[in-house]
Amino acid sequence: MPETVVTNDDLSRIMDTSDEWISSRTGIRERRLVKDETTASMSIKASIRAMENAGVTADEIDLIIVATVTGDHVTPSTACEIQAAIGADKAVAFDINAACSGFLFALHIADAYLKIGTYKTALILGAETLSRIMDWSDRSTCVLFGDGAGAAIVRADQTGLLAYDQGSDGARGMVLACPNRSNNNPLVKNPTDMKFVNMDGQEVYKFAVTTVPSSINKVLAEAGLTTEDIDYFALHQANIRIIQAVAKRLKVSEDKFPTSLDHCGNISAASVPILLDEMNQKGLLKPGMKIVLSGFGGGLTWGSAVIEW
Ligand code: COA
Repeated sequence: MPETVVTNDDLSRIMDTSDEWISSRTGIRERRLVKDETTASMSIKASIRAMENAGVTADEIDLIIVATVTGDHVTPSTACEIQAAIGADKAVAFDINAACSGFLFALHIADAYLKIGTYKTALILGAETLSRIMDWSDRSTCVLFGDGAGAAIVRADQTGLLAYDQGSDGARGMVLACPNRSNNNPLVKNPTDMKFVNMDGQEVYKFAVTTVPSSINKVLAEAGLTTEDIDYFALHQANIRIIQAVAKRLKVSEDKFPTSLDHCGNISAASVPILLDEMNQKGLLKPGMKIVLSGFGGGLTWGSAVIEW
């Protein structure tokens, strides 16, 4: 994550908000925002750490997938920038856009490639500098998000993926949207310049608390497991109230839902891998544990997985 911590109180000094409003509705107390860091620079650091943790060298990596909606360039992709920086010369590298479900989609794509034998070792990331695409005059949205990157190595002989569910609902896409740059070609009379995130928070909330429990129930059924068999539910870190509502609908204790959103905010595709890394660093994860991962957000998209650690 970037070095600079921005607390709710810091935000209340530059806009009409308060720690009480933000933390009581979301559970978020602070987030990290980039100053000099970029999506690629954070991704490269995360990739190097993941390679060290996994004991994998750059020449072993043959696939790099980055889930991001905030790559530093339209092209080259963040994945290609990582490839060059770490020297993974033989890897194929590309980015995907599935917003907050992106890490789950990247995991599933990697798993599919690895299972059919095309590649053996994948480096997958979720990485975002969301602060670049926020409308900092829209207090109802900008206070929710943060910046960061998370990386994982997935290998063909141990992908750990037991079951998977993913879906999309493009018809509801505009409830969480961010326009790309406007078209200023000579045929366009009045190019618009609206390029920041806009969100209908209540619609996104309703989508999350209905879709996530049903997606998790699907992956559990596919894996032949029940909620009792699961050690942790590592959900996309959007809002503590969404996590509490999902726990309630699944009839699972909130203790099984670790969180990082209090100090990270919502980092879209990066939130699940950063949460997993924090759980790993705290020593919570033991070999053989079964963990449900679930991401949901822009698109609209969602993805859930049962993994064995
Ligand atoms: N500080 C203070 N007041 C704020 C504020 C802020 N940062 N942002 C909005 N408000 C005000 C609004 O102007 C509005 O005031 P009004 O009633 O006078 O018009 C009021 O707070 C709205 O509050 P409320 O109706 O309680 O909002 P809410 O309960 O819908 O909570 C969210 C808003 C965004 C926290 C909630 O809808 C949410 O979490 N949605 C999910 C969003 C999400 O997670 N998106 C990403 C998914 S990947």
